[in-house]
Amino acid sequence: MEKKRIQILDTTLRDGEQVPGCKLNTKEKVRIAKKLDSLGVDVIEAGFPTSSPGDYKSVQEICKSISHTTVICALSRAVEKDIEVAGSALKYAKRPRIHTGIGTSNCHIRYKFNSTPEKIIERAIYAVKYAKRFVEDVEFYAEDAGRTENEFLAKVCENVIKNGATVINIPDTTGYCLPEEYGNKIRFLKENVKGIHKIILSTHCHNDLGLATANSLSGIMSGAEQVECTMNGIGERAGNTSLEEIVMIIKQNSHLNLFTNINTKLISSTSTLVSECTGMKVQANKAIVGINAFSHSSGIHQDGVIKKRETYESINPEDVGIDQSSIILTARSGRAALAYRYNKLGYLLNKHSLDLVYSIFLKYADEKKEISDMELKIILKKANLNNNKNKVLHINTNNSSIRINVV
Ligand code: KIV
Ligand code: ZN
Repeated sequence: MEKKRIQILDTTLRDGEQVPGCKLNTKEKVRIAKKLDSLGVDVIEAGFPTSSPGDYKSVQEICKSISHTTVICALSRAVEKDIEVAGSALKYAKRPRIHTGIGTSNCHIRYKFNSTPEKIIERAIYAVKYAKRFVEDVEFYAEDAGRTENEFLAKVCENVIKNGATVINIPDTTGYCLPEEYGNKIRFLKENVKGIHKIILSTHCHNDLGLATANSLSGIMSGAEQVECTMNGIGERAGNTSLEEIVMIIKQNSHLNLFTNINTKLISSTSTLVSECTGMKVQANKAIVGINAFSHSSGIHQDGVIKKRETYESINPEDVGIDQSSIILTARSGRAALAYRYNKLGYLLNKHSLDLVYSIFLKYADEKKEISDMELKIILKKANLNNNKNKVLHINTNNSSIRINVV
């Protein structure tokens, strides 16, 4: 069976940047956009040009600096002025896309717009038609689709397709849906909307209940062709679907028969760049890109990983651009990890030496969170191993054939 390609729309520079305190300037935005381009995303949502002159300029500069097949997308509300500004900011893009839309849930229709379902459909149609004056590629978002009744959502979708929408985004704006519910919504649209097979159906899930990635996965397994996501999962409130998670889920699970164009070896460096530019630290236990994602500190796990990496890792760190897993020395570590780390420093300990060093190590480790290489050398000195029984061997690891010298 032929594999289906899932397109990746990265919205780090738009939904991601909406996080309080993570404002990016034009230079930083261009730098991140170039990195996302090398990473292989299909669409870069570059910003919301009408929101500020700075964002307009950033979108414009990104369009100038991304020269090939990547689509550059700009957000707008279903408002003429927004759409005009988005169209103008995208002037230099090789492949421009306007992303326009309106809230479709009862809550948004009633409280945000003080409107009616019929008027919302009229505004949706008008926005798409108006955006078509500026670009061919128009994505429509049905904001709060997660809480929109499926029949009404289908009606909205059918109308915007008839009027030229090329992509339809189904945002779970408030992170409300359960995976099954979101998947059923996508399937319902696939089965009930006339013309749906002519367009790309997109997921856009927020993480308020920690379900953004699960919901996106459910969406693509139910037929969606595009996932909207951000690097490190940054975004409004609890964030968006994280790019690294959805991409690696697809890569690790070949039975899904899906693939993306992402060069996964650039995931770690892209994550670091986004974190540095936005000032948003990645939590240590974050899947794929957290500092602990490939670190092992308990004795049982360390012993397993040293014998065979796969015992406690289902992802190869090299696949995401990390050289190797880390063996962290703590009071929970065992002899195997200690010997391994001494080995890395060039020391080979015999059994007697290791026992002696280990007892000193535990005293140190009980006082500290983590034992460094420097401290390992101090421990070795303290152990005073230079007698015949307790030998420490110094090995030269500079070349592949290891030379062993008695110290
Ligand atoms: O979450 C959302 O509904 C959005 C739309 C503006 C696309 O970000
Ligand atoms: Zn969003």
